Amino acid sequence: MSNSDSFSVTLKENRRFEVPPAFAAQANVKAEERARLVEIGRKDPEGYWASVARELKWRKPFTRVLEWNAPFAKWFVDGRLNASENCLDRHLEKDGDKTAILWEGEPGGESVRWTYKELHARVVAQTAALRKLGLKKGDTVAIYMPLVPEGVVAMLACARGGFPHTVVFGGFSAESLKDRMHDAGAKAVLTADYGWRKGVKVALRDQVVKALTGGNPGATGGTSTVKHVLTLKRESVGGAGRAPAEALLGKIGTADEYDWYAVANTVEPSKRAVLGAAEEVEAEHPLYILYTSGTTGKPKGIVHSTGGYLAGVTRTTRDVFDLKPSDLYWCTADIGWVTGHSYVVYGPLSLGASVFLYEGAPTTPGADRFWDMIERHKITVLYTAPTAIRAFMKLGTEWPKKHDLSSLRLLGSVGEPINPEAWMWYRDVIGDGKCPIVDTYWQTETGAIVISPLPGAVATKPGSATLPLPGYDVDVLDKEGKSVPLGQGGRLVIRKPWPSMARTVHGDPERFKKTYFSEFKDGIYFTGDGARRDEDGYVWILGRVDDVLNVSGHRLGTMEIESSLVAHPKVAEAAVVGRPDELKGQAVVAFVSLKAEFAKALKESGGQDQAAAKALKDELRAHVAKEIGSFARPEDVRFADGLPKTRSGKIMRRLLRELATSGEVKGDTTTLEDLNVIAALKAGDEE
Ligand code: WT7
Repeated sequence: MSNSDSFSVTLKENRRFEVPPAFAAQANVKAEERARLVEIGRKDPEGYWASVARELKWRKPFTRVLEWNAPFAKWFVDGRLNASENCLDRHLEKDGDKTAILWEGEPGGESVRWTYKELHARVVAQTAALRKLGLKKGDTVAIYMPLVPEGVVAMLACARGGFPHTVVFGGFSAESLKDRMHDAGAKAVLTADYGWRKGVKVALRDQVVKALTGGNPGATGGTSTVKHVLTLKRESVGGAGRAPAEALLGKIGTADEYDWYAVANTVEPSKRAVLGAAEEVEAEHPLYILYTSGTTGKPKGIVHSTGGYLAGVTRTTRDVFDLKPSDLYWCTADIGWVTGHSYVVYGPLSLGASVFLYEGAPTTPGADRFWDMIERHKITVLYTAPTAIRAFMKLGTEWPKKHDLSSLRLLGSVGEPINPEAWMWYRDVIGDGKCPIVDTYWQTETGAIVISPLPGAVATKPGSATLPLPGYDVDVLDKEGKSVPLGQGGRLVIRKPWPSMARTVHGDPERFKKTYFSEFKDGIYFTGDGARRDEDGYVWILGRVDDVLNVSGHRLGTMEIESSLVAHPKVAEAAVVGRPDELKGQAVVAFVSLKAEFAKALKESGGQDQAAAKALKDELRAHVAKEIGSFARPEDVRFADGLPKTRSGKIMRRLLRELATSGEVKGDTTTLEDLNVIAALKAGDEE
């Protein structure tokens, strides 16, 4: 199903669900309150966001709210604070014994429960260890870890020391890890020997070794900035077992490798509090850099601030997820994605919530793993992705039906447009028809949720993220920058700055400007998404209008995959497009033209569908998986004699998308696809 298909289905259905009265009665934001906030947000957005930010703990309160030198924003400029202090210390007095994190490993029987006091102590110890190794405010630290509680400790320990972190999702290859560490100038990397996924050990440290030594552990040269590696042993997750007496494990390239727990033990307990104290940083101090795909071959390091970011995520967590002190909240995202940053770690912990974490795959050991955990732990709020919901739908209702899911009171969705069928299934089967659904639209760049129902105040429609949250000036524009009338499609923009917006692209402010602020003038932020508003002003996201794919809720740049393909010695040219996919949203299809000698050999061996061609397709698919990560592996590779181009030499992507989708043009299998014939016919269309 394509985004536009789901849209038309939705329009036909046009169902609407009012807020359940019982939910509304207890909601953090009721209808009148929402109306009031929306009004303040419209009349005085700076005043609105200042009141939001005042709910944080400031070491030095801000007096200036916004400095806007479009497209560069500074919020709460003269204020000073620390993100980890907001997520930990400020809860200790009242909620020190409350559960901060409840974690389950993928293998059965493994769990960790840490109170706020315990999480605080571990973060302090790790900050102290990092400082002892010589890290200073402003030094960047890479985190490449499985979803274990220490992953959260890693992020908060960096935040505590004022070390901007860059978390690299564990599914990324050594190559991608290396590029990101290099671009960010990471001084240290925090990793683990392995994590569990689908019953298999995923060796992360091995990738770190490859990234730092090019696969040659004896190598010492290289330009790596990484001086320290902290490795967590998977067996010692949660602090189990005894840390080795010797903290220093050896060398990886030119970096020293330390045992995660042993290195923390090198700081005497009496010195921990001082060495692990929270660094007071300015509101604009970068909290983290997170790499995300764009329309060029090189991922962008999105930079987020401390004060503005924290204000945005704290408020949206409270309002959108309606969190209460008694909730056990579960966002299924990995800490390697922005959802993990904003809605696993910083938002919920800053609110003092109890957060559930699960390491592994949804169907290990059985197809009911999620539902089993929800029942056992009485999880109350679940936030997951449409691709997961569709996969569960396919597995059948018998799996959730085996469990008592009555603890759930709110369901959330994020990452891609949710098709109404999946929305209805989520509502009826998982939520038993009683839980409101919040379809939350946002991006790595927005830092926090932008469009979403407030569950106690806004009626929902399956497939629509509904209305912008208070404080955001969202609009849908035509190419000339004029607002389009309701019912008409256009480009989704945010007209005014907001506190949790990205501050820049690390090391490349020009790219920041060009990517997000050049489509329209006057500091209007362009999301890259198409959207339409219905007669009630509800926003329906139509998907990306740029060359960015959304595969299982993960963003992939077509150019990124193309650059990886052309780096293969047999490839002359490559064009990558998305094909609608029932489960993943989009699947990656690569059109490849080979260098002459290989193309000739392939033709002689019988063409596109013969064994030799199939082997080469697999080789290319594996190549991309190795270069970027397995989630970028093309679903399909098609060989073509040449790629279809317009007369001005632009690859005709729309044509390729059509071909990938319909599968119509197979060509003569004894030759390779002659796309140029079709291109010649269609050339007029795309120029
Ligand atoms: C892109 C951002 C936001 C965290 C996860 C993805 C798409 C995201 C929705 C939604 C329709 C959505 C957009 C957006 N997207 N949420 N609720 N409905 N589309 O973050 O990797 O930065 O991707 O995901 O296309 O631009 P990301």
